[in-house]
Amino acid sequence: MYDKFESRAFSLTIIVIVLFMTALLYAVTSRKIDLPDCLPYNNKLYRSGVDSLGNKTYQLFYQARMWSFEPKQVCLPVGSDVDIYLSSLDVVHGFNIYDKNVNMMAVPGGIVKTSIHFDKPGVYKVTCHEYCGIGHQNMQAEIIVNP
Ligand code: CUA
Repeated sequence: MYDKFESRAFSLTIIVIVLFMTALLYAVTSRKIDLPDCLPYNNKLYRSGVDSLGNKTYQLFYQARMWSFEPKQVCLPVGSDVDIYLSSLDVVHGFNIYDKNVNMMAVPGGIVKTSIHFDKPGVYKVTCHEYCGIGHQNMQAEIIVNP
């Protein structure tokens, strides 16, 4: 009646799904890793700039477009807690902060949010990791964290 191969493949699929869900739950609960949120369109968040909320807390609004990020350079004090809101003005772009666990996609019409803590001073490179046209490799920004 049952095809052995099919039932094995089905069991393996279930195991992989359960493993994936467990890893996701573990990351969010035990490791307190902040997964990017996808927010509905809101024109208050669909902009570029930096807002200081005081006490080393910031809101960073990034807009990606062919082939740059706005703001291009941001300076923050070490120990900052930052909420990043990312949007795109044209096509799909990537958003990766080198040396930080931030990897998002900027999708036109949508806003992606993540939270990050900068505990070490340095220059953090932001790069686009989704091919978006002939100027893709020049699409960079910087977050400078001062001691
Ligand atoms: Cu934007 Cu590649």
